[in-house]
Amino acid sequence: MNGKKILITGGAGFIGSNMVEALLNDNDITVIDFTDDVKYIKGFLEDKNFHFINEDLLKYEIKEHFDIIIHLAANSDVRSGSENPMLDFSENVVLTQNILEYMRKYDVNDMIFSSSSTVFGEAPIMPTPESYGPCMPISSYGASKLANEAFISAYSHYYGIKASIFRFANIVGKNSTHGVIHDFIIKLKRNPKELEILGDGTQRKSYMHVSDCINAMITIHEKIKKTDIINLGNHGTTSVKTIADYVTSAMGLKNVKYNYTGGFNGRGWKGDIKYAELSIDKMESLGYKNKYNSDESVKLAVSEILNQY
Ligand SMILES: NC(=O)c1ccc[n+]([C@@H]2O[C@H](COP(=O)([O-])OP(=O)(O)OC[C@H]3O[C@@H](n4cnc5c(N)ncnc54)[C@H](O)[C@@H]3O)[C@@H](O)[C@H]2O)c1
Repeated sequence: MNGKKILITGGAGFIGSNMVEALLNDNDITVIDFTDDVKYIKGFLEDKNFHFINEDLLKYEIKEHFDIIIHLAANSDVRSGSENPMLDFSENVVLTQNILEYMRKYDVNDMIFSSSSTVFGEAPIMPTPESYGPCMPISSYGASKLANEAFISAYSHYYGIKASIFRFANIVGKNSTHGVIHDFIIKLKRNPKELEILGDGTQRKSYMHVSDCINAMITIHEKIKKTDIINLGNHGTTSVKTIADYVTSAMGLKNVKYNYTGGFNGRGWKGDIKYAELSIDKMESLGYKNKYNSDESVKLAVSEILNQY
């Protein structure tokens, strides 16, 4: 991707700030993000090809044309769903609808969208291919992403939009704002003797390093000709207990007492999918092979996140 005028929504966040870094050399980038925490984009603010609009996309009206929208803004906290499902509805469903309406009015027909493996719910087939259905999400977050996919598909048909809809596994790496590694590090900094682990620790998911995630999005979006859904994940899985071991060892801690909350049927929280592994055959057939496997991605992310403290 080069020479493009790109809008990245949510570009001050974890994946967004890594995306800005990957694309800024060759493109003109505008980020819209409502956060006050701009530490991950601070280094770009003086760049003449970088523009930051600190606004809430539920209220702000975008009034200029962009060549492509990389739409990442969302409520990314899956855990809050059972207490506040309306947050997923407004931040994910309504917000994305606003973006699609903007695209319709301003004739923007190129889009990258960050969906999630949570759209599948508890799929009995693993690794789960894109073609698996019916999708029955068990969280309002997963439901909101599935609704987003459906509207993007409809708008693509009506208005000739080309959208890459990427269903992410768990993405990890530098500039993290949330997630299991981030949580463990914060808890252990507070109390290096004990670690609260949500659930029973046997939850297993695939982790993908953010650098692979960004490179896969860019590579695959260039390849596809019309709106499509592509899983981005990894071969293999890593358990939550293994992640706790990596984090404690990287922090040089010994004999840390793990306190499992037991959670909801051993899950971290209501709506947590205990075992998840996406099929990445389609991703690989479209020309992207990961540099790091699931365990390597987690280990690298642990050291990157620790370095940022
Ligand atoms: N990180 C993962 O493992 C993962 C997995 C699956 C899907 N995703 C999706 O990828 C995208 C990026 O996730 P992330 O991990 O970088 O999360 P993040 O929370 O770090 O980034 C999201 C950004 O969106 C911004 N935002 C939210 N609502 C907004 C609004 N109303 N107006 C303006 N800005 C708003 C936030 O301030 C934040 O900076 C999200 O859509 C998320 O649902 C992430």
